[in-house]
Amino acid sequence: MKSPKRICCIGAGYVGGPTMAMIAAKCPDIRVDVVDINEARVAAWNTDELPVYEPGLLEVVKEARGRNLFFSTKTDEAIVDADIIFVSVGTPTKTYGMGAGRAADLCYIESAARMIARVARGPKIIVEKSTIPVRTAVAMRAILSANSEEGKFQVLSNPEFLAEGTAVEDLENPDRILIGGERTPEGDAAVETLVSVYNRWIPRENILTTNLWSSELSKLVANAFLAQRISSINSISALCEATEADVDEVARAIGADSRIGPKFLKASVGFGGSCFQKDILNLTYLCEHFGLPEVAAYWDQVIKMNDWQKSRFSANIVQTLFNTVRDKRIAVWGFAFKKDTNDTRESAAIYVCRDLLLEGAQIALYDPRVPVQLIHQELQYAGVSQDIIDQQLTICASCEEAADGAHAVAILTEWDEFRDVDFEQMYASMFKPAFVFDGRDLVDHSQLREIGFEVYAIGKG
Ligand code: NAD
Ligand code: UGA
Repeated sequence: MKSPKRICCIGAGYVGGPTMAMIAAKCPDIRVDVVDINEARVAAWNTDELPVYEPGLLEVVKEARGRNLFFSTKTDEAIVDADIIFVSVGTPTKTYGMGAGRAADLCYIESAARMIARVARGPKIIVEKSTIPVRTAVAMRAILSANSEEGKFQVLSNPEFLAEGTAVEDLENPDRILIGGERTPEGDAAVETLVSVYNRWIPRENILTTNLWSSELSKLVANAFLAQRISSINSISALCEATEADVDEVARAIGADSRIGPKFLKASVGFGGSCFQKDILNLTYLCEHFGLPEVAAYWDQVIKMNDWQKSRFSANIVQTLFNTVRDKRIAVWGFAFKKDTNDTRESAAIYVCRDLLLEGAQIALYDPRVPVQLIHQELQYAGVSQDIIDQQLTICASCEEAADGAHAVAILTEWDEFRDVDFEQMYASMFKPAFVFDGRDLVDHSQLREIGFEVYAIGKG
């Protein structure tokens, strides 16, 4: 097995950037080129204001950048010399044509494959890092081999399991690395080459190797199972509210059973992020394609429950505020889909804010990391007009500023700093009754009630 000297990654996004930074940091003898067509993004990777906010990421990037880690828009040059080419481009849900709203849009994957086929010389290992529908490697191989000599490319599947906000930790110490390859001598050799890269810092027993299709499918299934746990506990949160049970106590009680386990049982205003919904939609689309409508309907329910949880939260705010929020100031704390990230894709906050804005509320929003333009863009995309945004949305510089003169506070992201607010002072600055709607079970509810707040928390009777 030839040890790789150069790695290229097409796509410098949330996955490509951090993943390649970690490989470069752990393998100083391998040159890693991360390329992207988005010039602004590449430029940001070359500064200390990285385009992706992740705790610890800047340190990892700085360790390798300029030594053996390079970010650029010079795609062709990076491809020509690479032994291994990762493809880490977006695979969003299709918004047009066949499968719109469900199937994965593979146009970026295809353009990356065509780019590789056009430029590459000599044998290459092509690694699917993006999350893709099972059997995408067939299409990749077809495009690659139709445009160059047979046998030049080995296609591997190496899905990424990092979670945003903990990307560095997850990359440094993953539960497992999954590599799928063709079960031929050439396929096995390619798998072993990639294993040798990860094995620099990850024990061999944590690197699983499978056939291509199991690896591709496992990524969709892992996300579906994780999302299913959240929808399951969120469904129970509604029952807890109706019965005076406490969802955290229920989660602790069931999670103590080692067969169930304690993780991913935190009830919330609904899961967000770029992948859970997209990957389940993709899974259900695949099931239907393969003639399995019952399986599709089963997984579809995970998304329906999540949608219901988000709209249940906003409906509860309206009902509790005496069935009208028109012209009432509501402080929204948090817009990112989880803490420690600036990512807002599919964040529950988008939909809660949209519902409240369309009910006529004045939203005073604070998030420590999300830029104003992104908030506007997400709301517009969710169907809120620019007029409503201009007239009813104020972006604030702190929790306190948002709460000042508000009727209610809605906590939508679990940022740690939200716990440190002086709630007595905040109470004094709000209209009475002063309401707190805690969508993350973040703050101390009994302390707030003692101060005088009316508190609503997910899953608390
Ligand atoms: P992203 O949108 O942040 O990044 C993708 C990048 O690819 C963009 O910067 C885009 O400009 C670039 N790109 C597209 N076509 C290109 C081309 N032809 N040449 C060069 N660059 C090109 O996406 P992401 O969040 O990094 O996700 C990438 C993939 O990884 C998706 O399939 C996603 O499902 C999967 N994934 C994401 C996460 C996550 O936490 N975000 C985790 C695991 C897996
Ligand atoms: C998720 C998976 O955890 C990763 O393994 C996967 O690689 C990634 O998707 C992907 O494919 O993109 P991510 O979406 O970044 O990672 O973050 P999570 O920690 O999974 O959180 C997703 C959403 O679920 C967040 O909105 C979070 O607040 C919510 N959540 C999570 C809950 O509501 N309750 C929980 O118990 C856990």
